[in-house]
Amino acid sequence: MFSPVSLKKLDLTYSKKVIKIHKSDLQYTILTLKYINLYCNHLDGDTMVKLNEEMKTAFSKVKIFPVATASKEGIPNVVPIGFCQLVDDETIWISDNFMSKSLANLEENPNVAIYVWGPDTGGCFQIKGKAEIISSGEKFEKMKAIVNAAKPGLPAKNLIEVSISDVFQCAPGPNAGKKLL
Ligand SMILES: Cc1cc2nc3c(=O)[nH]c(=O)nc-3n(C[C@H](O)[C@H](O)[C@H](O)COP(=O)(O)O)c2cc1C
Repeated sequence: MFSPVSLKKLDLTYSKKVIKIHKSDLQYTILTLKYINLYCNHLDGDTMVKLNEEMKTAFSKVKIFPVATASKEGIPNVVPIGFCQLVDDETIWISDNFMSKSLANLEENPNVAIYVWGPDTGGCFQIKGKAEIISSGEKFEKMKAIVNAAKPGLPAKNLIEVSISDVFQCAPGPNAGKKLL
């Protein structure tokens, strides 16, 4: 083990040759790797994005959301979901009441896609994100209380928390499919 802070020079033996690495080279390499990591996370959809006011208003006008998941082999599945709400600008809560294939997919592949469209949305956009299945704790109990208050008797088996990573234009026209956030 070594401390990168105190390290001035690192000697590595590779193919019987001694390679001398200076601290400044190491710092540059670490910085480059950090940027590569950030970029890869972005491509993977690991970085969260915040919906703007227009998008949040459109979201609030939708009653039933098409929620798409996929198995780890990429077999798609889409279902209509009523209990789908924004809890903040970058997070969606879905109540798993009756999910079967969707839940099985999420257990092996966290990727989710949802489009936001309805007669009153004034446009259409597509959300991509990563889901976490939460079946106990404060957030879960909060979601269960919301569901029970709205429709007593619904099972609210799991809270599906979706962290929004990308937003795309979905309305028809020259910008259809373009990345918005
Ligand atoms: C209008 C409508 C709203 C629905 N809302 C929900 C919901 O909020 N939560 C849920 O788990 N299932 C809901 N469902 C049921 C799912 O669409 C679906 O039947 C369920 O996830 C099982 O399908 P799967 O095996 O593909 O997951 C709803 C169905 C309809 C028709």
